[in-house]
Amino acid sequence: SAQPSLSGRHILVTAGPTHEAIDPVRYIANRSSGRQGYAIAAALAGLGARVTLISGPVTRPTPPGVERIDVESALDMAAAVEAALPADAAVMVAAVADWRVEAAGQKVKKGDGAPPALTLVENPDILATLGHSPRRPRLVIGFAAETQDVVAHATAKRTRKGADWIVANDVSADVFGADANAIHLITADGVESWERLPKSTVATRLAQRIANALQGAS
Ligand code: C5P
Repeated sequence: SAQPSLSGRHILVTAGPTHEAIDPVRYIANRSSGRQGYAIAAALAGLGARVTLISGPVTRPTPPGVERIDVESALDMAAAVEAALPADAAVMVAAVADWRVEAAGQKVKKGDGAPPALTLVENPDILATLGHSPRRPRLVIGFAAETQDVVAHATAKRTRKGADWIVANDVSADVFGADANAIHLITADGVESWERLPKSTVATRLAQRIANALQGAS
């Protein structure tokens, strides 16, 4: 049968890390490269979707046909997601910082005393907020990077976050910045384990699954 198109659909994708400011010149970040999220945005656009890519700081070209919104912090990303609604689907690939720093307005100076302590505050969970929102897209997809009990943790995450699907991977292997990804797709129907594939192929397959899932919906 013909591949369903995503023409007329609006899909949000979050990608990359977030940067959490310590002061005007310093920040806390993580090793997310944005590669998988950008590949998914490209694959969705390739199937005809209108894609809004909400991206943390990465050095990566914007995929053709994708509208990109650059953000720095988790709070910025949460606001950008909210502002980009409504959407038919959301694919939350970003490695959002769990905590932000109670940031100083001025550069923290080195002094004679003890090193300054960083006070951390919990960030909002953007996926969980969207998953339980009255403006929830019809299809909400989260990612889960785990180092042990991958499927069990990801299955629990699916319920807790109100996601339809969780794409889980084992990050005890080389994943960050690497080209390949071995994932488990967790849905209400169970678990599908995919062989180790290039991130671009994971993206293409996922985009096709999304097109199938949205097919026939108004
Ligand atoms: O809880 P954990 O960080 O493992 O969940 C990962 C999933 O949740 C990813 O889809 C990620 O984009 C999303 N997430 C989020 N906001 C957060 C933390 C995670 O959207 N503050």
